[in-house]
Amino acid sequence: MKKILVTGSVGQIGSELTLALRKKYGAENVIACGHSKRPSEELLGSGPFEFMEVRKYDEVKSVIEKYDVGVIYHLAALLSAVGESNPQLAWDINVNGLMTVLEIARNYNCSVFTPSSIGAFGPSTPKNGTPQDTIQRPTSMYGITKVSGELLCDYYYSKYKVDTRGLRYPGIISYVSPPGGGTTDYAVDIYYKALENKKYTCFLKSDTKLDMMYMPDALNAAINLMEADPSKLKHRNAFNVTAMNFTPEQVTASIKKRIPEFKIDYSIDPVRQGIADSWPDYMDDSTARKEWGWKPVYNLEKMTDDMLKNLSLKLNIKY
Ligand code: SER
Repeated sequence: MKKILVTGSVGQIGSELTLALRKKYGAENVIACGHSKRPSEELLGSGPFEFMEVRKYDEVKSVIEKYDVGVIYHLAALLSAVGESNPQLAWDINVNGLMTVLEIARNYNCSVFTPSSIGAFGPSTPKNGTPQDTIQRPTSMYGITKVSGELLCDYYYSKYKVDTRGLRYPGIISYVSPPGGGTTDYAVDIYYKALENKKYTCFLKSDTKLDMMYMPDALNAAINLMEADPSKLKHRNAFNVTAMNFTPEQVTASIKKRIPEFKIDYSIDPVRQGIADSWPDYMDDSTARKEWGWKPVYNLEKMTDDMLKNLSLKLNIKY
């Protein structure tokens, strides 16, 4: 079979997606790529790994040729909060990196998965039940790169017939890999702190509602979309997908059912609060359900059970 390449494989989603793809398609068929961060022993030990800079065409080209790659999961990107601290770099990595990958895909006949985000929406977007097709005027650089990415992927499909596909992910929560510099990171950190300190200081206000998803659903979404019948896909590059939505107050209540002494307080970060306020409260993902059968497994309660059970083992803290 043609090989699968995962860029950003040392990142939050990439590290777990690489392992899931290796399990499904065979370890030797999935090439993990990273740039600066050191990969985990598990990632290095379970299959091929290459250091590669996604903004450099020749570096990507040599990996594509070396392994005869046919599918690229392009996950190398900066998240929203870190993007606001260096907008020029966010544009460079998120947009110029994607352009390199799309050009490679055009020249080597690869299909491409690219994640978009709830960040592709802005303050003028309808907030409740955000439709699949709606106003997209994001105010963060992260969001600007994500809308640009959606449009570039659509363009490469319509002009060059490159098989591009993508999802608008919400905040992703996992007990395995930590996020790096996103606005939704609190929803991961809160579980760690609930076990470690029985107390968490949240950087978003108690009633800030955002879409979220547990990692196993996020991985299945990407793999199922790439395996979907292309003739059914009308919204190739930007499917709204969500599994749950909650506020810091609501996730706290869910944790308190299992750890009654857990307490939250608030120290608001204006940058991340501003970003969160510009994003939807919850998206309508019925188009993904209809076009390729999207169906998440985890809701908030099921996720809290699984997170606390697995983190308790990982951190060796009973509750
Ligand atoms: N989790 C991302 C962030 O907070 C949203 O896509 O930046």
